[in-house]
Amino acid sequence: MLKLGVNVDHVATLRQARRALLPSPVEAALLAERAGADGITAHLREDRRHIQDADMLALSRKVKALNMEMAVTAEMLRIASGLKPRNCCLVPEKRVELTTEGGLDVVRDGARIGKAVSRLKAAGIVVSIFIDPDKRQIEAAAASGAPFIELHTGKYSLSKGASRRAELRRLVAAAELADSLGLAVNAGHGIDYDNVDGILDIPHLVELNIGHSIVAMSVFCGIEKAVSMMKSKMRKYKN
Ligand code: PXP
Repeated sequence: MLKLGVNVDHVATLRQARRALLPSPVEAALLAERAGADGITAHLREDRRHIQDADMLALSRKVKALNMEMAVTAEMLRIASGLKPRNCCLVPEKRVELTTEGGLDVVRDGARIGKAVSRLKAAGIVVSIFIDPDKRQIEAAAASGAPFIELHTGKYSLSKGASRRAELRRLVAAAELADSLGLAVNAGHGIDYDNVDGILDIPHLVELNIGHSIVAMSVFCGIEKAVSMMKSKMRKYKN
């Protein structure tokens, strides 16, 4: 069964808009789990624009399967090694971006990323690397020792028509290559209730990480309904 990881960053975005106490990303995470989320993802950004250190600590204690998204920095490696979430997903991070733009460049930065992977693995954490569906990046990710990659689906989700179909073909080929190299494959970014249907054509997927569309839907119908609607769409997946 294809797993769903629910990213609760944007619950914290709403709270931080007023520097208030509510809504709580931890409460959202617990409700999402109750509605069938297989995991919870949160990105502790360098600038702490949404998730705060205290959220990460509470999530690491309260949710069943926490995936910490993080930049490859000394500070984040220290925090992750202490919190020991079940998973860490290494992502690029730029202060000015609205969200994670593009995957990590493992080809260029392989040595530093490989060291981070080893350190997290030594802490007992399952590591994933967020990359574009690109042959060289996949080969470099396999060489880094990480057991998982997360394929960046942002271009697919932003494109339409023939260019969307071409991007989907790239994702399919990327998943085939990753699987042949022994990597487990997740996917995420920009996946919503409409474009998820195409994502289900990608083979070998273990988990989808979805945040914005689920939090947006939950504004109108609550997070439990938003999660169960996405899960029921994902049940059509045939690996
Ligand atoms: N996966 C990764 C690595 C991400 O950085 C993000 C965005 O935080 C997501 C998945 C979820 O993307 P979205 O919020 O567009 O569903």
